[in-house]
Amino acid sequence: MAYTVGIITLSDKGALGQREDKSGPAIREILEADGRFEVSEQLLLSDDRMELEKELVRLCDEKKLNLILTTGGTGLSPRDNAPEATLAVAERQVPGIAEYMRAKSFQITPKAMLSRGVAAMRGRSLIINLPGSPKAVRENLGFILPALGHGLDIMLGLDGECGSN
Ligand code: MTE
Repeated sequence: MAYTVGIITLSDKGALGQREDKSGPAIREILEADGRFEVSEQLLLSDDRMELEKELVRLCDEKKLNLILTTGGTGLSPRDNAPEATLAVAERQVPGIAEYMRAKSFQITPKAMLSRGVAAMRGRSLIINLPGSPKAVRENLGFILPALGHGLDIMLGLDGECGSN
């Protein structure tokens, strides 16, 4: 059974049709190549915080998606709202995911310190904020994918054993 996934690109310019979204499609391509994931929804939203909160709640509570990946909106601009929206709807944080992404990203660029992305759970959905560029998406997904399936299995009650890993 594939993990169901929602992809949300956050970009004011993208939502207005002024910039092509290359990051959402990059996430989809990586997940489809992986083979364990089924993309159920792919959205392109503005950087508005309330709109993101509303969509996160819908994807978690109504659609009951296993995994929601956002891209963009993690930086220092006043319109970067992905972490705040995620934490507003979150029930539990999963700090190690963002810690690991940043730790690995520091080996590539010191600008990794400028991503404030978080990871958190709402019900049986895991939400992870990725930075906005296609490059950052590819790098960060590459870091977290090897351990993500195990985390999703534990969250979903499909695997309770960590001993052999
Ligand atoms: N992380 C990785 N691995 N690779 C990158 O190129 N870009 C950084 C950072 N994290 C980057 C990265 C940059 S330049 C910024 S400004 C922040 O992510 C925030 O990006 P965002 O505002 O598009 O979310």
